[in-house]
Amino acid sequence: MSTFVRDQWYVAAYGREVGRDLFARTILGEPIVFYRTVAGEVVALADRCVHRRYPLSQSRLDGDNVVCGYHGFTYDTGGGCVFVPGQSRIPRTARVPAYPVVERDSFVWVWIGDNDKADESLIPRAPWLADPGYTTVSGLEPLKARYELLVDNLMDLSHETYLHGGHIGTPEVANTPITTEVDEDRGIIYVSRHMDDAACPPFYAKSTGIEGRITRWQDIEYHPPCLYLLHSRIAPVGVLPEADGNDPDGFHVEVVYAITPETEHSTHDFWAVARDFALGDQEVSDFLAESNRTVVLQDVVALDILEQVIQAEPEGYQELSVNIDTGGLAARRILKRMAGERTKAAVK
Ligand code: FES
Ligand SMILES: [Fe+2]
Repeated sequence: MSTFVRDQWYVAAYGREVGRDLFARTILGEPIVFYRTVAGEVVALADRCVHRRYPLSQSRLDGDNVVCGYHGFTYDTGGGCVFVPGQSRIPRTARVPAYPVVERDSFVWVWIGDNDKADESLIPRAPWLADPGYTTVSGLEPLKARYELLVDNLMDLSHETYLHGGHIGTPEVANTPITTEVDEDRGIIYVSRHMDDAACPPFYAKSTGIEGRITRWQDIEYHPPCLYLLHSRIAPVGVLPEADGNDPDGFHVEVVYAITPETEHSTHDFWAVARDFALGDQEVSDFLAESNRTVVLQDVVALDILEQVIQAEPEGYQELSVNIDTGGLAARRILKRMAGERTKAAVK
């Protein structure tokens, strides 16, 4: 069984996906309908009419209100019913839940949990995605696997060597040890792998134009449950940042994943690649978009298989963990703690 962490912000969509059409997406098992008001604000309501459960996403907008496609119950942006056919009295309970939403860093974030606790300042940031100093390519792939499998996958990049050879994997990734740190108070997990002298995989050779071997740094920063950042630095071998931190000769790629559970056994796998070089080069953008999508789909195929394996196995199967799993194990521990904290708070 998957462990959902509630009372958290989750990426529900890219801002570009939400417009004046009603848009359905299930987040943590909750069907939600999204749309923009005439003024452009994003609204999120439970996607189930209070009357006979008809999906509001199958309905229509009238200005900023949603008119149910079955019998016409009409809801405002706060989920309150403003019209019931055939009577002037509107029952007090005629409303659907509304979800807090915030648009930030190109994402639409939705709060899943107790609305009173929705604090915008808790939303982790991915500022590169909406920064003119970076060029970003991004996408979203459906994953038929529990979100924990994607967390495991992203926390241990040694799999790049085996699953993504020929794209982003080279022998040095699997062969270079990692360092793992956990900020227990803020619940953030850091995993770093610095390769001083590594082969340059096609993903970086073609996009940066570097020929020959590279210094390759991978610095992961996971903000459970939803946001995963991989700060990737590429430079010719021996080229390091200056003493003051400036890094004019390094190529920087910010790889961002938003890991949003859809159901207990499926996940929205949002991915974005932001770079600080070749900003206006469409060929580089097309190459990175195609390449990263290929890599993401390689993970999707593997994780979909793993989900089936897990569902078919008897209770009590014991995995074996080794050094490369340190980050993944820390993530599991923090996620468990977050899920547990909420359960404890709920019984108080
Ligand atoms: S189901 Fe929506 S109005 Fe009847
Ligand atoms: Fe991968």
